[in-house]
Amino acid sequence: MVLTEVLIIYSSIHHQNTEKIAIAMGEVLNAKTVKTTDVKPEDLSKFDLIGFGSGIYAMRADDGLLHLIENLPQMTGKKAFVFTTSGMGIAFSGSLAKTLRKKEFDVIGKFDCRGFVDWGPFRLVRGVNKGKPDDSDIAMAKEFAKELIRKFTKP
Ligand SMILES: Cc1cc2nc3c(=O)[nH]c(=O)nc-3n(C[C@H](O)[C@H](O)[C@H](O)COP(=O)(O)O)c2cc1C
Repeated sequence: MVLTEVLIIYSSIHHQNTEKIAIAMGEVLNAKTVKTTDVKPEDLSKFDLIGFGSGIYAMRADDGLLHLIENLPQMTGKKAFVFTTSGMGIAFSGSLAKTLRKKEFDVIGKFDCRGFVDWGPFRLVRGVNKGKPDDSDIAMAKEFAKELIRKFTKP
């Protein structure tokens, strides 16, 4: 199967950390990359593969992105991938994937990395994860995107 049309939808509210990852993946996948607030839900059916990315805010993805997904019709078999950036850098993408699976998306990849945070108590120490995502995170995001192409095109 040939991968032709890729859409990446992302929410990146705090420091554009997730946007950096979205753009890096978008370059590799030659994707249309749009903010959650600019998505036209009726356009999703035009794409072969859809990425959903978000910063993590109070242990969950952006409410706007979650609402967008919850309001979609069943997307049975539509290929998707997920990515997050967060202070902890742990696998928050699992929960986003679960939300997509309720709509019967076929989630073929998950990516998570750390992002700079100076919100709340972290302001006192002028933030943590300075410079993240950094060049090495961007390289990993690009490698992840290449792997998606391999997975998608596998017969
Ligand atoms: C209001 C707020 C709440 C946050 N809550 C969490 C959290 O629960 N767990 C975590 O690991 N990081 C948390 N963070 C850190 C962000 O997930 C991290 O900075 C992320 O990279 C932000 O992505 P963005 O710049 O694309 O918005 C929070 C940040 C903000 C601003």
